[in-house]
Amino acid sequence: MADMEQLKIPECVAVILDGNGRWAKKRGLPRSMGHAEGCKTLEQTVYDAADLGIKVLIAYGFSTENWKREDSEVGALLTLFKIYGKKLMRVAMEKNVRVRVIGERSRFPSDLIRIFEDIEEATKDNTAMTFVTALNYGGRDEITRVVRKIAEEVRDGNADAKDITEQMISDHLDTAGLPDPDLLIRTSGELRLSNYLLWQLAYTEIYVTDTLWPDFNKAELVKAIEAYSRRDRRFGGRKDQEAGT
Ligand code: IPE
Ligand code: IPE
Ligand code: MG
Repeated sequence: MADMEQLKIPECVAVILDGNGRWAKKRGLPRSMGHAEGCKTLEQTVYDAADLGIKVLIAYGFSTENWKREDSEVGALLTLFKIYGKKLMRVAMEKNVRVRVIGERSRFPSDLIRIFEDIEEATKDNTAMTFVTALNYGGRDEITRVVRKIAEEVRDGNADAKDITEQMISDHLDTAGLPDPDLLIRTSGELRLSNYLLWQLAYTEIYVTDTLWPDFNKAELVKAIEAYSRRDRRFGGRKDQEAGT
């Protein structure tokens, strides 16, 4: 493993955990088994991220487009969210992790919504790390909801259209109060964002690995952070720039 001294630990890491289906297919297993294994990997990744000193981990668990999958797969995922929601509560309390669920949760069954509320409430004073899970989340859906909300504030006289700023939009997103991701990790090799954190990823460093999500582990996480540590982030400026040149 890398010399930990040289690693620049990103404050906020976003993950598109992809490849559960392919992992299962390779083994002749049903897709639901891939998802079950993926949930275990996620639980372990919360531990590993907390150990490494990452402050915010934002994991994409279910997109607004994932409802297009077969009922049996969606059903298996919802069952896993219930089981792992409860397990996550234990991990979060043990590692002093605050849990937040982002996305449009009203589409989920009420018992699952209750689990989200319970875990958010129970962990709200935890301070070591924030673990955010994006469920029924879509970047376009999130921005649409923000536009609707701000339009209502303007209509009701609580905001002025000319005062709308980038900060105001950030403050209305599901991720309000969290830093933008420094690093995005996508597993299983796909080179796309799949509607994830479209606003927040504006200047995020992207790392894609061919490793399928259920095979992801701490060594892989460290590899991603090593790659991040070598990046030269310029945010549109020039590194060699001095005043007047
Ligand atoms: C990621 O694994 C988990 C979810 C999208 C819920 P996939 O189910 O997308 O796995 P692949 O891409 O089919 O391998
Ligand atoms: C993105 O993966 C969504 C999650 C990881 C939850 P998908 O597997 O749904 O993305 P596409 O369809 O390959 O773009
Ligand atoms: Mg996929």
